[in-house]
Amino acid sequence: MTTESPSTTPTVAVIGAAGKMGQRVSNNLVDSDFQVLFSEASPKGQELIRSLGRELTESADAAARADVVILAVPDVVLGAVSAELVPLMKPGTVVLTLDPAAAYAGLLHERADIHYACAHPCHPSVFLERTTKEEWADTFGGIAAPQEVVAAYEGGDAAKQELAESVIRVMYAPVVDVHWVTVKQLAVLEPTLVETIACMVGALLTEALHETVHTVGVPEKAARAMLLGHTQVALANTLKGSNPFSDACLIAMDYGRESIVREDWKKVFEDEELDKVITRMLKIKEIKR
Ligand SMILES: NC(=O)c1ccc[n+]([C@@H]2O[C@H](COP(=O)([O-])OP(=O)(O)OC[C@H]3O[C@@H](n4cnc5c(N)ncnc54)[C@H](O)[C@@H]3O)[C@@H](O)[C@H]2O)c1
Repeated sequence: MTTESPSTTPTVAVIGAAGKMGQRVSNNLVDSDFQVLFSEASPKGQELIRSLGRELTESADAAARADVVILAVPDVVLGAVSAELVPLMKPGTVVLTLDPAAAYAGLLHERADIHYACAHPCHPSVFLERTTKEEWADTFGGIAAPQEVVAAYEGGDAAKQELAESVIRVMYAPVVDVHWVTVKQLAVLEPTLVETIACMVGALLTEALHETVHTVGVPEKAARAMLLGHTQVALANTLKGSNPFSDACLIAMDYGRESIVREDWKKVFEDEELDKVITRMLKIKEIKR
């Protein structure tokens, strides 16, 4: 809540306020100086928002009144939702999406007098120096553990970028820094670097643990303890240069790369491959450029 006049206090609309991200960003925005409007399509989600003591606003009304409209709806409906809401917005409104796929694919409804920004949370770093229980518990970020954010805006209006950044710093708080890149660069970061590669490797580690326990028969506690400690040291050694690996470990790592990783794996960084994964994610036939 604020005592300032509406003309000096930007209004932020959260469309899809009961979703996973909608709830997270709303929980932080309610404690800010922004005027916040909550919109949600599903009846169950609307009930949840009311139960939190938050007033609901129709999407069309929220989009027409807000200075910044956060589209926290699933990526596969961003085309349809933006086609419905962008025509209703005031000139100069900032549309803020939370994932670059739809913007990269050209799915967002375009208007020359609207500014399009996208901000993705980095999540708290694996090397974050956590000191409190709350920081340790906050694995996703946005509650207690500081995180960085990567955002894209290609509109060239410094004041709009500043407005977007002020909302981003609140909705993903606590935020250490916001890094501004292009939409394509953000799409290379997510999905390619962090979903196609990092999250896939995380899932592979979990499968490897399962094989060790259920196929080979190693006691689960022993396998889990060994994997978690070594995952920590592997990341510290490779990404931070903390300690050198032993000579024998380097030989085993080479054997692992030869046995597990395809020689042409770096093709995931090629433009056609980025288009391929994004069309698959958005369930569309092609990228519009
Ligand atoms: N979930 C994550 O971990 C995560 C992380 C970073 C970014 N994102 C991005 O955040 C965005 C939202 O994803 P999510 O996982 O929170 O989705 P979600 O499915 O959890 O929530 C989406 C919400 O939008 C509502 N909705 C759908 N159509 C609507 C409409 N027309 N008007 C109002 N509400 C509508 C749904 O009822 C639902 O409550 C996506 O762009 C996603 O890529 C998600």
